[in-house]
Amino acid sequence: MKKLLEVLNLKTYFFLEEGVGKAVDDVSFFINEGEIFGLVGESGCGKSVTALSIMRLVPSPGKIVGGKIIFEGENLLEKSYEEMRDIRGRKISMIFQEPMVVLNPVYSIGFQIAEAIVVHYPEVSWDEAWERAVYMIEKVGIPNPRRRAEEYPYQMSGGMRQRAMIAMALINNPRLLIADEPTTALDVTVQAQILELMERLKEEYKASILFITHDLSIIAEISHRVGVMYGGKIVEVGDVFSIFDRPLHPYTFGLLNSMPRLDKEEKRLYSIPGSVPSLLSFPQGCRFKDRCDKAFSLCDKEPPLVEVESGHFVQCWLFSK
Ligand SMILES: Nc1ncnc2c1ncn2[C@@H]1O[C@H](COP(=O)(O)OP(=O)(O)OP(=O)(O)O)[C@@H](O)[C@H]1O
Ligand SMILES: [Mg+2]
Repeated sequence: MKKLLEVLNLKTYFFLEEGVGKAVDDVSFFINEGEIFGLVGESGCGKSVTALSIMRLVPSPGKIVGGKIIFEGENLLEKSYEEMRDIRGRKISMIFQEPMVVLNPVYSIGFQIAEAIVVHYPEVSWDEAWERAVYMIEKVGIPNPRRRAEEYPYQMSGGMRQRAMIAMALINNPRLLIADEPTTALDVTVQAQILELMERLKEEYKASILFITHDLSIIAEISHRVGVMYGGKIVEVGDVFSIFDRPLHPYTFGLLNSMPRLDKEEKRLYSIPGSVPSLLSFPQGCRFKDRCDKAFSLCDKEPPLVEVESGHFVQCWLFSK
């Protein structure tokens, strides 16, 4: 399998008045061609900052201070502003929980999708771009595409807006789609439809997907490989079967145990004790140790990432000698 994206020792820090917040701290993972890689973890653990780092859209006072982001063999961190602008929307595109972050309220969705084509491919005529936009609107399952193309985002339901954003993200056939909690705001039925749509389009357009969510059941359903993130680190990574059948990190255990399951008759769901601390107040050493029931003396030092079985890595002293 060929790697499409490889993130190596990525560090993205926020330079705040009170100190340096290490939102992403020495994160490494890769995504193969045609693969869905799920990134999971509680709120505040650094998932979105990782995604924004790949897009080179980290907001100030955040800064990428180290590492490499190799995409199609080239380091994105060495690209100029113009080169990055060309890569975004053509080779890598992103969809969000809230479509209105992307969709402009004052233009019709057909206009916005056609515009996304001509910005990157000025040789395409407007009529041609419009036809492609209508085609894509149909592809993402919006009924009456020719008429709906003329509509404004506020005239659409949340699910339809989400589809329109997916159409816009895929219109230039990107190699990588980054989906940051794209279904979180939707009700369960629409959520299932959107996931199904994304899987189908991934097959058809041969894209890879970085799928970000805090919902492990979604990860189980759609991803091939999974990274579990806590406190700005990927604490465990492996294929979806190893992660669900043989979780190693106590944090992964906690997440799995707090997942509602149909085959268990528990009255109360487990929840991991405590909450994610703010960026500036993580403990020294293993960042999870204060919430971990397995913590022992070694945890005051940072554990190394070790490969426990082929392709299954964990960063926890329980697995290091
Ligand atoms: N613009 C910013 N300024 C300061 N700190 C920030 C900024 N953006 C993010 N952070 C901090 O970086 C850390 C990681 O945030 P991030 O948004 O990546 O979390 P997340 O895993 O995406 O969470 P969620 O599931 O809530 O979306 C958090 O502690 C957050 O407070
Ligand atoms: Mg986020």
